Amino acid sequence: MPAATVDRPLLAVLRGERRDPPPVWLMRQAGRYLPEYRALRAEKGGFLALATDPIAAADVTLQPIRRFGFDGAILFSDILMVPWAMGQDLTFGAGEGPRLAPRLVDVPLESLEPRHERLEPVYETVRQVRAALSPDRTFLGFAGSPWTVATYMVAGQGSKDHAETRFMAYRDPERFTRLLYAIAELTVEYLVGQVKAGVDAGQLFDSWAGSLSPEQFGTCVLEPNAWIIREFRRRCPGVPVIGFPKGAGAKLLAYAEATQADAIGLDETVDPRWANEVLPAGLPVQGNLDPLALEVGGEALDRAVGRIREIFRDRPHIFNLGHGIGQHTPIAHVERLLELVRA
Ligand code: CP3
Repeated sequence: MPAATVDRPLLAVLRGERRDPPPVWLMRQAGRYLPEYRALRAEKGGFLALATDPIAAADVTLQPIRRFGFDGAILFSDILMVPWAMGQDLTFGAGEGPRLAPRLVDVPLESLEPRHERLEPVYETVRQVRAALSPDRTFLGFAGSPWTVATYMVAGQGSKDHAETRFMAYRDPERFTRLLYAIAELTVEYLVGQVKAGVDAGQLFDSWAGSLSPEQFGTCVLEPNAWIIREFRRRCPGVPVIGFPKGAGAKLLAYAEATQADAIGLDETVDPRWANEVLPAGLPVQGNLDPLALEVGGEALDRAVGRIREIFRDRPHIFNLGHGIGQHTPIAHVERLLELVRA
C-alpha cells in the first residue's frame, strides 16, 4: 500500500479526529530507562556523539517503537542543538546536565560564529528514520522554544529560577528580544528542514514557560511561539505543531489563542477536567500522566490512566506523560501503561 493511504492515528488526532483508544507516545521515550539506549550511548562515548551519528541516532529513535509499539516516534536529538548551531560549544558531562559556552552573560550573541551545518546530521537522522519507520507510525520532529533555549544560552547551563535570563530580559529588553528572534528564526529553519527530511509533525518545547511574570510570558513565550508557528505554517502548510508550554497553568488558554498551535501539550500539574472545560472544543490535547505515577506503577498508575482517558473521551487526545519519562522507570510499568491505554 502506498504510504499516503496508510492511516496514521496520531497524525489523524493532530488534525482534529478523535480516536478510541487514543494514540500514545512518551516524552523522552528514547533514553536512559532503556538498557539498549545505555549500551549504545556507552559505545558512542556520549550524548553529542550519539546525536550527531545519523545511523546510531536513527536506531535510538526506533528503539522504543520496536520494544513497545508506540504510535509516534520522536526524533532523537536535543533542543540545545540550535544554540550549538548558533556557535556555542555544547557538552554533556556525566551526571551534570548540558553546558553551553561561552555564556551570553559574558559575551554578545554577535561574537559567536554561526555553524548551521552542525544541524545536517539531524536531517540525515530524519531521512534514516523515515525510511525504516512503519508507515502507520507518526514521526515527530521538535525544537525548543526561544525562551527555554535562551535560559541555557544565557546562563550556560540549566538554572533553577532562570534569574540571570529574566534579569537580562528586564535590563536590556532590546538585546533580549534580538536573542529570542535570532533563536526563533533558526528554529523555523530547523523545523522546516526536519519536515523536508521526512517528519509528519513537530513539537515546540517551552519547558520553562512557568517561570515568567504575566508580562514577560507575553513577550517571551506568547509572541515568539506565535511567530514561529505562523512562519512555519507559511512554509509547511498542513503540518501540525504541538505547543507545550510546561508550567503555564492558567495561562494555557492565552497560549492556545495567541499561538494557534494545532495541539496543546499539558504537563502533569494541569487538572485535565479544567483544561477540558476551558480549551476550545475540538482542540487536540496531549498528556498528562504524572511521570512519577508511571515510575511507581500499581494502583496509582491504573487510577491515573483511567481518569485521564475518561476526561478526554470526547476530545481529540494523544496519551502522553506530563513531561519526560524518568530514568529509573521500570520497563514493566511502560508495558502496563500501554495495556491500560489500549484496553
Ligand atoms: O523525547 C525524546 O525521546 C526525544 C529526545 C529529546 C532529548 N531531549 C534527548 C535527551 C528531547 C525531545 C529533548 C528535549 C529537551 N532537552 C528539553 C525539553 C523537554 C524537557 O525535558 O523539558 C530540554 C530542557 C533539554 C535540555 C537537556 N538535555 C537537559 C536539561 C538534559 C540533561 C537532563 C537529562 O534528562 O539528562 C539533556 C540531555 C538529554 N537529552 C538526554 C536525552 C536522552 C540524556 C542524555 C544522556 O544520555 O545522558
